[in-house]
Amino acid sequence: MVFEIKHPLIAVKLSIMRDEKTKSKEFRESLDEIASLMSYEIFKDIGTYPSDDTFMTPTGIELQKIKLNYKIILVPILRAGIGMVDGIRNMIPTARIGHIGIYRDEKTLEPHEYYFKLPKVENPLVVLVDPMLATGGSAVAAISAIKARGYNNIRMATLVASPIGIERVSKAHPDVNIYVAAIDEKLNEHGYILPGLGDAGDRIFGTR
Ligand code: PRP
Ligand code: URA
Repeated sequence: MVFEIKHPLIAVKLSIMRDEKTKSKEFRESLDEIASLMSYEIFKDIGTYPSDDTFMTPTGIELQKIKLNYKIILVPILRAGIGMVDGIRNMIPTARIGHIGIYRDEKTLEPHEYYFKLPKVENPLVVLVDPMLATGGSAVAAISAIKARGYNNIRMATLVASPIGIERVSKAHPDVNIYVAAIDEKLNEHGYILPGLGDAGDRIFGTR
């Protein structure tokens, strides 16, 4: 399932990110804030339970602490995915973080995995994060790598996606829900999303 998260606050911040004149600091801050806002939808249905841990309210009533049904692992695809981690972790401070290093060969557009490290957690909900879903090659490879390590409860959060990328991920991994802030028109001949926002990694880290 694909969830396109349409919200005025997200739309305003995303248009700031699309502006080529926006500097790295504001680009990062906007991505951070959008990731926080998207958390509301990504985790909407995961459920909670009243734990054995209790506390007193100032009005003298004992209550059970409410906890999430799942332990959360956030997995950014390096590098650009890192830009979405803090925004989500601000909402879920107990989330653990894994990392997948995948880069897209600029000529062939094929994904290459160079790093993989996930925390060991029983029955977690794994949320793969990457601001760009273009051909879908990186996301498909990342999800396959996560599944190969035995994790099967997976969602993906992305900022801007192409229709082709969404289709590719949905076909390869129909069990993975995709949460996206904007589905753009198409890819250009270099595999960049149009209108998109350029190279997310370069803009986050100021490498160009
Ligand atoms: C970008 C982006 C995704 C990937 C999307 O990463 O962050 O991981 O491209 O493209 P795809 O859907 O066609 O695979 P890139 O390989 O540029 O690496 P970077 O994050 O280090 O900039
Ligand atoms: N990666 C990016 O950073 N931007 C795109 O438009 C496509 C892939």
